[in-house]
Amino acid sequence: MTVSADAPVRVRVPATSANLGPGFDALGLALALHDEVTARVTEGGLDIQVDGEGGEQVARDETHLVLRAMRAAFAELGETPPGLALQCRNRIPHGRGLGSSAAAIVAGILLARGLVRDGRLRLDDAAVLALASEFEGHPDNVAPCLLGGLTIAWTVDGAARAVRRDLDPAVVPVVLVPPFTASTERARGLLPPTVPHADAAFTAGRAALLVAALTGTPQALFDATADRLHQAYREPAMPEALRLVADLRVLGHPAVVSGAGPTVLVLARGEVEAERVRGAAPIGWAVSAPAVDVAGARILDPPR
Ligand SMILES: Nc1ncnc2c1ncn2[C@@H]1O[C@H](COP(=O)(O)OP(=O)(O)OP(=O)(O)O)[C@@H](O)[C@H]1O
Ligand SMILES: [Mg+2]
Repeated sequence: MTVSADAPVRVRVPATSANLGPGFDALGLALALHDEVTARVTEGGLDIQVDGEGGEQVARDETHLVLRAMRAAFAELGETPPGLALQCRNRIPHGRGLGSSAAAIVAGILLARGLVRDGRLRLDDAAVLALASEFEGHPDNVAPCLLGGLTIAWTVDGAARAVRRDLDPAVVPVVLVPPFTASTERARGLLPPTVPHADAAFTAGRAALLVAALTGTPQALFDATADRLHQAYREPAMPEALRLVADLRVLGHPAVVSGAGPTVLVLARGEVEAERVRGAAPIGWAVSAPAVDVAGARILDPPR
């Protein structure tokens, strides 16, 4: 056994917004809204404490997502700790399209790696990306959660890869979070098996433009956030979100559904536009403009 029984490990993981309109399953952005999880190897049993988001819903047993991801990473590392204690401080809302599941999975894998001697050598960063993406089912939230900034992710022979870019500083992400949830599973189930060639060609062009717009040509952001691959199909799962996206776009704002919704993301071009978006938020929706998280998931000093 090479797991460390004395030293706790603490990790900080960011919220993420995936898709960004036309970049379905590929593009993602890390936001400075973080969960923090501390893990410790114990002599036996399981102790899971949760404060904040999801605190009243998530199970405290083997089905807990952070723990399941830890188990997967321990299995990859060939380790079985005798017992585990977890302390979760959650700030990322669950089931809203802000990557809470990816954050939980990344946290679990990094904690397991951190608790194992030479974990970093035995499970390198590329392996963490691949394992976390496999666990989540797709890499678009996992990649920015791990790397920070703007990421473009793809999969080769089942293994996820990603490149990271800095966002143009003029871009101000504004998130509008409704007081209700939507299930990622349901939203995925609404997608058709095939799409018209013209819609695929349109969306591929806009996705390419979006990378340019986010990294140096923000003037193009309105055209660059147009999508025909997924958002409209998901309308039955989140009519309010699609209505808000349409209303904001009529006003000229680059609005998209964040992840599998129902949060709406606006990639505002500066503070003036961000302020206008705040003014257009429906009653009951929480609006904020979190900074871009440029660092990605980080191991922090353990709490004293
Ligand atoms: N920190 C966490 N601890 C335990 N379980 C979590 C945690 N974060 C997410 N989950 C689980 O994942 C579910 C939410 O995942 P889901 O993929 O539906 O939404 P999301 O990740 O918040 O949004 P999206 O995938 O659209 O960005 C929660 O209901 C919960 O079961
Ligand atoms: Mg998710």
